[in-house]
Amino acid sequence: MCGIFAYTGKKKNSAKLVIEGLKRLEYRGYDSWGIAYKSGKDIHIHKEVGKIGEFKIEGSKFDPSNIAIGETQDTQVAIGHSRWATHGGVNEKNAHPHFTEDKDIVLVHNGILENYKELKTYLQKRGHKFISKTDTEVIAHLIEEHAQNHNFEEAARLAMQEMEGRYAIVVINKQNNQIVAARKGSPLIIGVGEKEFYIASDIPAFLPYTNKVIYLDDYQIANINEGKIKFYDTQKREEVEKRIIEIDWDEESAEKGEFPHFMIKEIMEQKDSLSRAINQDPSIIEKVAKEIRSAGSIYLTGCGTAGKVAMVAQYLFGEVSKLQSHFYFGSEFLSQAGFLNKKSIVIAISQSGETADTMEALEMAKEKGAKIVSIVNVENSSMARISDFVIPIKAGPEKAVASTKATSSQLAILTLLAYAMDGGIIIGKQLLINTTSQINDMVNPRYEDHIMKIAKKIKDIESMYIIGRGKNYPIALESAIKLQEVSYIHAEGFAGGELKHGPIALISQGTPVIALVSNDQHKKDILSNSIEIKSRGGFIIGIAPENDEAFDFWIRVPDTGETSPIVNIIPVQILAYQLAVLRKNNPDMPRNLAKSVTVK
Ligand code: M6R
Repeated sequence: MCGIFAYTGKKKNSAKLVIEGLKRLEYRGYDSWGIAYKSGKDIHIHKEVGKIGEFKIEGSKFDPSNIAIGETQDTQVAIGHSRWATHGGVNEKNAHPHFTEDKDIVLVHNGILENYKELKTYLQKRGHKFISKTDTEVIAHLIEEHAQNHNFEEAARLAMQEMEGRYAIVVINKQNNQIVAARKGSPLIIGVGEKEFYIASDIPAFLPYTNKVIYLDDYQIANINEGKIKFYDTQKREEVEKRIIEIDWDEESAEKGEFPHFMIKEIMEQKDSLSRAINQDPSIIEKVAKEIRSAGSIYLTGCGTAGKVAMVAQYLFGEVSKLQSHFYFGSEFLSQAGFLNKKSIVIAISQSGETADTMEALEMAKEKGAKIVSIVNVENSSMARISDFVIPIKAGPEKAVASTKATSSQLAILTLLAYAMDGGIIIGKQLLINTTSQINDMVNPRYEDHIMKIAKKIKDIESMYIIGRGKNYPIALESAIKLQEVSYIHAEGFAGGELKHGPIALISQGTPVIALVSNDQHKKDILSNSIEIKSRGGFIIGIAPENDEAFDFWIRVPDTGETSPIVNIIPVQILAYQLAVLRKNNPDMPRNLAKSVTVK
């Protein structure tokens, strides 16, 4: 949800460097972009509507290398932003960076300033003029207001005290070469080089230059000046020391390689990503399993796809571990506040570890004294850092907006956890090793070609449905998300048994319906549901270990028992990808969506 990238150091042409970094963050926001860079005392700003990924300096009217930044000053300073619009339409005026009238203060922002209206009214009365419709511009003027009586860093600090909501900001000013960065609720990470610093919403932006990182925490401000960095905690009102962490993601895993899109690359990587998830040190899983077992009440939370994974866990905990748990989406968690106490345990599932709604649920649970477990891909994310226990899923960087490999790895960890709670982590691991080895039969071109036959047949349809039962019911819901977000086809998932209570009225001649079938206690019933649909003209695409007379088209999946959610979602991921490509959509950057949803 908006990408921030900034640089200060001795590398020549920081503007070009920031543009390249923003391209690596495009998955966070891609409706418009902009950069600001210092040249002498001046701050130059350039903004454009459209995808930063499609911008080429060669042939463009805007070429930052024409402005001899390197010759006019030694220390380079540049900030940049790719936008996912919240306040104000998509146009150059509303694109970041935002600035005060004579560009004294220039900043980029990720998040939402909740009290911007009140602050704007106050600032307008004080004579400030606004040119955009954004909440962000208000922050620039607020800092300027305080800068009348305070130095730049202090002005930013005072502004932060008045700002409500979740945000990450990076600010520069005309007077000197300082960069001030601050966060509350939205991610901001500092890459540390040799007397140089990178500031970004996510690590891949600066991974080609350094793997040494500092995570800025909520209410903290970083002040970078002439090769030195200092941190200040606005709550403790004191300077703080921060730890440099070396991370081990290599740059290559964040690149597309031979694949046309990240989405298909990430789908095809699932054998390896699953192996990494299940072959990690089991002690943390056993420890968490013990904590969950002894908790007074168990809650699961997450949003979107991660929410559907949490729903699968509810079934796994019930069936495998014989434990009752409660699932609520992060955005719906607030109404459970009254039930949370010191004996509760809340398990959050998230790829990014930054999703605002899930974070808010965890913050609330923490306040109530509940224990927090997070199952995340980004190991040092905000969720990981407020949790009592963290289980990393080890999927590696997931860049496509549609979650695929993170989903299967989350499912694998929750399966292990369910078995560990039943005292059988070894049985769970063996089951997952077997599943992983059988995934080879699915992540290959022959399997893709088979699914392409059905993708071509249904590519122009308006609506489709997915049915499942038991733990494949949440997978039907997840299948719908996958199809919606990249193919833009209207897709809905239902519990098989619920069809005859209403949704079956939607079926007409040729309506495609995917039936998720596995060899479990629900097999007979889901096949009957498929026959009911077929007899009303529906076209049944069966995802199942064996073919059946109910199916008009069969996609074979291996028979892996309890891990059927993992194998059943993979063909749907492939189908969604193929439909996106056939319908000429960009599967990596679907319209209106961003990878990391750091606003409520
Ligand atoms: O980073 P998270 O897993 O917390 O993200 C939660 C959802 O925003 C995410 O799963 C979203 O639904 C995906 N785009 C689905 O593919």
